[in-house]
Amino acid sequence: MSQLLLDVRAVGKTVRSSSQAIEILKGVDLSLRPGERLCVIGASGSGKSSLLEILGTLSTPDTGQVLLTGQDVMSIDDRARTQLRRETIGFVFQGFNLIEHISAVENVALPLRYIGLGRRDALHRAADALERVGLTHRLRVRASRLSGGEKQRVAIARALVTKPRLILSDEPTGNLDEETGRLVLDLLMENVGEGCGLVMVTHNLDHARHFDTVLRIAGGRCHAAGL
Ligand SMILES: Nc1ncnc2c1ncn2[C@@H]1O[C@H](COP(=O)(O)OP(=O)(O)OP(=O)(O)O)[C@@H](O)[C@H]1O
Ligand SMILES: [Mg+2]
Repeated sequence: MSQLLLDVRAVGKTVRSSSQAIEILKGVDLSLRPGERLCVIGASGSGKSSLLEILGTLSTPDTGQVLLTGQDVMSIDDRARTQLRRETIGFVFQGFNLIEHISAVENVALPLRYIGLGRRDALHRAADALERVGLTHRLRVRASRLSGGEKQRVAIARALVTKPRLILSDEPTGNLDEETGRLVLDLLMENVGEGCGLVMVTHNLDHARHFDTVLRIAGGRCHAAGL
């Protein structure tokens, strides 16, 4: 059997808000195989974004273990974890998280610069990635001038440009109208490369039905969701 991309065991997370501690995740287990597309649904405040941040090594669980491509992410130092994240994961968020004052192609080139590519090569590959999401005509446009749908397509190109083994996406269609949201979902699904895993959080059950696996978070735990 090929190695799991993600192997999450008994992950727990408690957050503190003013006076009280809230246990948002209470022993979450999940796994993701290369090529598998997993969707996470659940009520607002159920812990979906918190879980995705843990899967993306942007936050650490209080208990349990996260293996990313076989590596225990808590057993390595911050620097090694950042490198593993940059080389392995592409992120697409609801709020796009683009750098507004630079162009589309410069935004997409950034992750390549972080992993050591020279400027020319990075811009060249970024232009190719933008072509794949249908934005060749918007390469040099400043991010702040793009529409919401265009911004999300740039964000997808940026997530895919390093050819990551794992894409994590938190409500990528949440800020878009239905038609644009569907286009963005299709682009994500089509462009997730062979063997690349996808974990997407959504409130949209119509979108969730297109995934191989759907998990629901409730009461701090993950269960298979019968849709
Ligand atoms: N850093 C933090 N400090 C305090 N509370 C937090 C923190 N992060 C998350 N929480 C709380 O943890 C709970 C889960 O939050 P989370 O953002 O993971 O939910 P969610 O399922 O993504 O919700 P939504 O669907 O609204 O995005 C919420 O009650 C939230 O207020
Ligand atoms: Mg959320």
